[in-house]
Amino acid sequence: MKILHISDVHFGPPYLPNVGSALLRTAPSIDPDVVVVSGDLTQRAKPEQFQQAAEFINQLPDVPRIVIPGNHDVPLYRIVERLTDPHRYYRQYISNELNTVLQTPDALFVGLDSTAPRSAISNGRIHPSQLDFCRDAFDRVPDGLAKIVVAHHHFAPAPDYLHDQTMPKAKRAINLFVELGVELIMGGHLHRAFIGNTLDFYPGAGRAHGIVIVQCGTTTSRRGRGREKEKNSFNEIDVTDQTIIVTHHIFDDQTGQFAPLSRHEFARGGRRLETASIRPSHHSRATEAVESNQRPQTLRSTRA
Ligand SMILES: [Fe+2]
Ligand SMILES: [Fe+2]
Repeated sequence: MKILHISDVHFGPPYLPNVGSALLRTAPSIDPDVVVVSGDLTQRAKPEQFQQAAEFINQLPDVPRIVIPGNHDVPLYRIVERLTDPHRYYRQYISNELNTVLQTPDALFVGLDSTAPRSAISNGRIHPSQLDFCRDAFDRVPDGLAKIVVAHHHFAPAPDYLHDQTMPKAKRAINLFVELGVELIMGGHLHRAFIGNTLDFYPGAGRAHGIVIVQCGTTTSRRGRGREKEKNSFNEIDVTDQTIIVTHHIFDDQTGQFAPLSRHEFARGGRRLETASIRPSHHSRATEAVESNQRPQTLRSTRA
């Protein structure tokens, strides 16, 4: 199963049309089975910004998709609306569902609305009722399906020393995800890619292999931060029976195209990488590009 993961497209002034066009050109070559858009579709939650975001998303490959709101998808300055009906335009233009479930032949995705318009300016929250929502959804998953959580805000700090407040009570959520057998957490918000593992932050007994974390940079806005300052990126995630392989693509100003930059490989289900197949079952064109021109740095994560 191939996932195209984009985030923080930020329609409004920060949106970069040339980068958006490049993504639309590249997306079909990824040949995704699922598209994930992990929040911050707009800059200021205005109706025309949501309309543009919806039109953009509709031009991506026509496959099942999971879309969730980010903190920029609730009004910041329209205080009454923020307090009384913060997701008004998100519901109107994107989806009436804020917490969503998507089941495909290979995976069950649970999308969580981590925005907290009444209790935080830019940080998020996961309410206990959303953890119940996760439990209900994942408890009914047939054997063999990958369990994947999507939320805009990060559950673990990015390891680059930039100040980003992690969601309060993130560990409570991680503990439940571990208990439920979640294998992958996807998000955005950081405006730079962070591909890692929960064990870096939440080590503990019984956690044989942790949960793979894949945060996406800003795919189409000028708001990149840290190592992706003034850069744009997206992730391609290949979930096979044995492995989760994340290919990080970055926009190249000189060519005006996205190109794969690094690859991160994790064994699934507590296996070790040596005993897992190290080839993606679905051998993508992007992967071939990595292998043929040898340009991108290949990076293997050994934590399984
Ligand atoms: Fe953002
Ligand atoms: Fe955000």
